[in-house]
Amino acid sequence: MMPGMTSAARALTAESPTCLGFRGGVEHHADQWQGQPVFMKILSSGDPEQQERFSHEGQINGRLSHPLLVPLLERSARNLTFPFVQGCTLREVIEDGPVAPAQAVRVMDGLLQVLVYLHAQGVTHHDLKPENVMLADNRLETCAVRLIDLGMAHDRRASSDTHAGTRMGTPHFMAPEQFQGVRGDPRSDIYALGVLFWDALAGVPPYADPLGWLLGSRAVRGPLPLPLALQPLLERCLHRDPADRFQSAAELLAALRSVRL
Ligand SMILES: Nc1ncnc2c1ncn2[C@@H]1O[C@H](COP(=O)(O)OP(=O)(O)OP(=O)(O)O)[C@@H](O)[C@H]1O
Ligand SMILES: [Mg+2]
Repeated sequence: MMPGMTSAARALTAESPTCLGFRGGVEHHADQWQGQPVFMKILSSGDPEQQERFSHEGQINGRLSHPLLVPLLERSARNLTFPFVQGCTLREVIEDGPVAPAQAVRVMDGLLQVLVYLHAQGVTHHDLKPENVMLADNRLETCAVRLIDLGMAHDRRASSDTHAGTRMGTPHFMAPEQFQGVRGDPRSDIYALGVLFWDALAGVPPYADPLGWLLGSRAVRGPLPLPLALQPLLERCLHRDPADRFQSAAELLAALRSVRL
């Protein structure tokens, strides 16, 4: 087996179509479509709530376009087709150990560029985490970043919010207000990105027990990762009160670019 190949990339070398997994009533397939390798999400559940979520993910993907988002090629009630990204997730990189600061900054730069775009479109991602960041050709470069998985996103322009009242997300990356059920605040994405940055630099997220922190009870945060030059920026992303964080992705991006490592 070739080193550095993701299970998805390996699957593509097998006979297509290949089922890569199954999550929440949705199958993930690697396949060929119009002569190109694609990643397909296929809804197999008949549950109306899951159908509604799937439709929401398709709608939101369908109206967005940015070089660091994977474009939606085709959409039906039961199928979402994307170009297959050959590479790995940021999670797979972190599993091999902390990311070098200069490389982590390059990835953050790309993620922030996408976030500036998403927030200007009235979309908050609400599920930023290393599993939802792909790196084309396994490269830790700004232009290789692909933000994926708009399954939890909030769209200010949509007539209703599929996820209203739900407490969905991954506790490590969930902003305290998001945990309380607040939807659509771009500053929740700033918080999640701060956790993601910390996770990349340290190899672990800030809180071993994020629920203690989210519930406002006992919470022991790990030591701030090095380098020192990035620590004020990390701190500012992770405040409990959104008013104390960077107020926009553009503001955080400017701060990131002004850091000298
Ligand atoms: N376009 C793509 N090309 C290749 N692999 C992809 C692509 N999109 C997603 N993947 C892989 O599939 C995984 C799941 O995708 P995604 O996060 O969009 O789905 P999900 O239904 O939200 O599942 P999960 O609950 O695991 O997040 C990703 O972490 C990534 O490894
Ligand atoms: Mg995901």
